[in-house]
Amino acid sequence: MPDPDLPLPRVPALTDRFASRTEGMTASEIRALFAVASRPEVVSLAGGMPNLAALPLDTLATEVAELIAKDGQVALQYGSAQGVPVLREQITEVMAVEGIRAHADDVVVTVGSQMALDLVTRLFCNPGDVVLAEGPSYVGALGSFAAYQAEVVHVPLDDDGLRPDALESTLARLARDGVVPKFLYTVPTFHNPAGVTLAVHRRPQVLELCRRYGVLVVEDNPYGLLGFTEEQYPALRSLDPDNVIYLGSFSKTFASGLRVGWALAPAAVRDKLVLAAESATLCPPTFNQLVVSRYLAGHDWLGQIKSFREMYRERRDAMLQALGTHLPSGCRWTHPEGGFFVWLTLPEGVDAKAMLPRAVRAQVAYASGTGFYAGPSSASLGARQLRLSFCYPTPERITEGVRRLAGVLNAELDVLDTFGSPSRTNVRRGPQTPTPDTT
Ligand SMILES: Cc1ncc(COP(=O)(O)O)c(C=O)c1O
Repeated sequence: MPDPDLPLPRVPALTDRFASRTEGMTASEIRALFAVASRPEVVSLAGGMPNLAALPLDTLATEVAELIAKDGQVALQYGSAQGVPVLREQITEVMAVEGIRAHADDVVVTVGSQMALDLVTRLFCNPGDVVLAEGPSYVGALGSFAAYQAEVVHVPLDDDGLRPDALESTLARLARDGVVPKFLYTVPTFHNPAGVTLAVHRRPQVLELCRRYGVLVVEDNPYGLLGFTEEQYPALRSLDPDNVIYLGSFSKTFASGLRVGWALAPAAVRDKLVLAAESATLCPPTFNQLVVSRYLAGHDWLGQIKSFREMYRERRDAMLQALGTHLPSGCRWTHPEGGFFVWLTLPEGVDAKAMLPRAVRAQVAYASGTGFYAGPSSASLGARQLRLSFCYPTPERITEGVRRLAGVLNAELDVLDTFGSPSRTNVRRGPQTPTPDTT
């Protein structure tokens, strides 16, 4: 019988019972913005949703019905933790377009490449381990690193992508402190959020540095096939198969809602990845994998990607044109050759995050730069920066969105001029000759 006189232990609030690893789990600024930015009157240049309008939905509907009618017993059943073999085979053909020679046995299908990122971090990172990442970096990756309490050390980018000189000095500094980073996380081609691409001549340099310092490379490449020129950049994995884990995705080249991505990893890592994947989801959804597989087998998928590229290029052009026409001097921005994003640096003294509510009131939304950096220095690193995405709105809406943004920015500069800012010198209002650049 319990003693009724014994005091019961104080029950902590549910939120006080969370594991300490949840401390790093906070809603990204971008997610917090989605609710307001998705109102129809707001031109959202904030999110990175692929535009699916060009997909042949009628044909796909027939094929999906056929898949259930003919192969329903398989499609609706559990499958292998590593993924459906026929799809893994097809994935090797997709990767071959970027010069990767791989065996289907080394491919692990995941629930989007986001899951692959989570699994790789889970496999390699203890709390406090160091991960190198471009500064700025993909928000979802920063979320995974935070969830496993890894410490992110940013390496700066320029117009040619990750800077090998900065990578070398960072690696040397860490080595002096006895720190070997667990891996370098990089989006070399059509970077999210910076919109830049690692120059071809830098690719072997980055790989050589990582080898020399014993650092694994995690190459995240969801945009590699979405270039606006004929240039096809060699995947890092194609240049150094033994030291690169490659992450791929059908989200941007087919359908993000199916959540089918993959990891290609050296055999020893692959086996652990499969075990980790199994404990997370038992297996990736068989049905979705078979939809992708049928699509690849029955469609001119490269032709479809070509039409996506043309659509995104038209939108990129509209954005660059509008930026050049409307933004005041003192702004700098990148010139993406593929992918979804332009990275904008504002004149000195302007705080992109503080300006955001005023932009939303003026019915335009963007993703402020601080969210793309990890750690305490994020507030200062991204303060003057923001990401503009051109993937989803029409060219007309993009132009209108940039015009609204310029209006908000000019008002902001007026306030700064009136009340003064020690760091600012004569910023001219209104249109300017573009001086695209990056930081
Ligand atoms: C650089 C990068 N990596 C990974 C992902 C996640 O993609 P998926 O839909 O395959 O999970 C995204 C999505 O925006 C991304 O931009």
